[in-house]
Amino acid sequence: MKILILGARGNLGGQLVKVFEKDSEVIAWDRSEVDITDKDLITKKILEIKPDAIINAAAYNAVDKCEESEEEFEKAKKINGQAAGYLADAAISVGAILIRYSSDYVFDGENKNGYKEDDVPDNPVDKYGESQLAGEKEIISRSGKGLKWYLIRTSKLFGPKGESEAAKPSFFDIILKLSKEKSELNVVNEEVSCFAYTPDLAKATKEILASGKGYGIYHIVNGSPCTWYEAALELFKLANTNVKVNAVSSEQFPRLAKRPKFSVLLNTKLEPMRSYKEALKEYLNLNQEL
Ligand SMILES: NC(=O)c1ccc[n+]([C@@H]2O[C@H](COP(=O)([O-])OP(=O)(O)OC[C@H]3O[C@@H](n4cnc5c(N)ncnc54)[C@H](OP(=O)(O)O)[C@@H]3O)[C@@H](O)[C@H]2O)c1
Repeated sequence: MKILILGARGNLGGQLVKVFEKDSEVIAWDRSEVDITDKDLITKKILEIKPDAIINAAAYNAVDKCEESEEEFEKAKKINGQAAGYLADAAISVGAILIRYSSDYVFDGENKNGYKEDDVPDNPVDKYGESQLAGEKEIISRSGKGLKWYLIRTSKLFGPKGESEAAKPSFFDIILKLSKEKSELNVVNEEVSCFAYTPDLAKATKEILASGKGYGIYHIVNGSPCTWYEAALELFKLANTNVKVNAVSSEQFPRLAKRPKFSVLLNTKLEPMRSYKEALKEYLNLNQEL
């Protein structure tokens, strides 16, 4: 199988390359090979290589920056929204399967019980969520029009850092670093959702593709939903770090973007993945230098 991976130098992209190159022909592109918002170029390049599957891990992920200006929001809508449509049209032209990732932030976060794959998101609380929802709509609107697609919603990624300078450090990387600089940390004890370990997500993506499961929406996250504060306590316990952690409210920790209060993605279609706690243990062992 010939697999095209976009955003290959990002955090998830790097893990996808690692998992797929074991037994597939992988073409790994990042922004330096092609800007996915350049419709003519991305279409031409996909028509040239004719992949069997296109996996798009390229994204605009700067949740707070997205609120800064109209210009930033436009950028997010292009990368997360319109470009999904360009990729979908190119995938239809070559008969490729398209895999695209989306986010728990497409939901408004008012449902304490979590969100199933077929719950309809219609009211994201921030602009990043809006841009991701725009991308979902680009894909879903081509359903039944020849597009073979998997839309994988996930949340709070962590794992080995991608090669790209801009690859975002995860929550765990950030607070572990902060714990070396400060004796006390304030961490938000709200915004309940799930973490996803990028090596697990990459592996699960490969399994979906190999299984030939029905096209549609899937939720892939690690188990044990929690707040940021609860995750910080778990991290410091596993890393044996002695730092005082104060639970604060989101009002006490102002950020530009509002976040959903409860955005647990419920997986009703696939085997459940292990708890993020297990994955975090593995990650810390891999990254002794952290
Ligand atoms: N991070 C999270 O917590 C989270 C949560 C939910 C869903 N997701 C989804 O999971 C996927 C992977 O996220 P990630 O955190 O691994 O991303 P990431 O580390 O930020 O990597 C994104 C990659 O995409 C590239 N890229 C950005 N804009 C591009 C463009 N216009 N054309 C071509 N390449 C472009 C970036 O290149 P440059 O470095 O050159 O910009 C970077 O290598 C994304 O689809 C994201 O929406 C992530």
